[in-house]
Amino acid sequence: MHNTDHLPSYTPSYIPTWVNAEEQTPQSMPPAMPEDAGKEQAAARRKFLRAAGRAAVGITGIGAATLAASHEGVLGASKTLTFGDIPTLGLLALPGLNLKADVKVLNYALALEDLESELYRQCVARLTGGGYTQQGVSIPGLNLSHYLPDVYHIMQFAGVEAAHREFLRGALKLDGLIPGLGIHPKKYQFGVENMSREQILAMLIDVEATGTMAYLGAIPFFRTKIFLTTAAGILGTEARHTAALQAIQNRLLMDKLIADGTPAPPAPLATTNNGIDTPMDPDAVLAKVSPFIVG
Ligand SMILES: [Fe+2]
Ligand SMILES: [Fe+2]
Repeated sequence: MHNTDHLPSYTPSYIPTWVNAEEQTPQSMPPAMPEDAGKEQAAARRKFLRAAGRAAVGITGIGAATLAASHEGVLGASKTLTFGDIPTLGLLALPGLNLKADVKVLNYALALEDLESELYRQCVARLTGGGYTQQGVSIPGLNLSHYLPDVYHIMQFAGVEAAHREFLRGALKLDGLIPGLGIHPKKYQFGVENMSREQILAMLIDVEATGTMAYLGAIPFFRTKIFLTTAAGILGTEARHTAALQAIQNRLLMDKLIADGTPAPPAPLATTNNGIDTPMDPDAVLAKVSPFIVG
């Protein structure tokens, strides 16, 4: 038994009582999203669709097939993608409302959320009962309890990321008004099949932090105000994911140090931003994620 009396009490309020996995028996998957969050997303999406639908009224006669065919997604090429590769819609330049730039930003966001949600799916498979990558590579499961703090939150955030992806897909399709406008889903290889629990957590923290910086770096490219609130809402969620996973990483490290008999204060959370997150240029973000895209 190690004397840890001198350590500060470290029980963050966000970690529920079920973190003591030995005393708990998993009953079921945690909810993917709180019910209220789903309602808010649905409301935001309806609001967005109303605005976008009004903007699109002037182009409905052009022919959805023509629009879709001229803007096939180009992601998936075995090269380093740039913001210039992200598809947009050249015909949405309506008088007083130029949505071309905004559609490009939304497609950029969709590209990132598509990757992020598939990464979470594969990470959950690795941490729990296993599964397969999109290319059929087996992911052996580590069979960890769903009630461990990292596993629980990663499973929950996987649902949120899937919701981000579906929100953007739905928004870009304008509920069928311009089918095919959004980029096509891609295939990714992250190497999770060989990762440890700690490596999974570290990778997700990196991706979440990158996602936060990516939204911040993309917001200046909007040319209308229509999507700003939604983008800021997603940005805030990505930042919250980053913080939660960092806190869990700290907690797990602390537990390990105590168990090893070498207790030390928790590592500080990332505070190198001086209180203001740093934007990341879209080209830099795409260069970072391009190696994961395999098809
Ligand atoms: Fe996301
Ligand atoms: Fe996230």
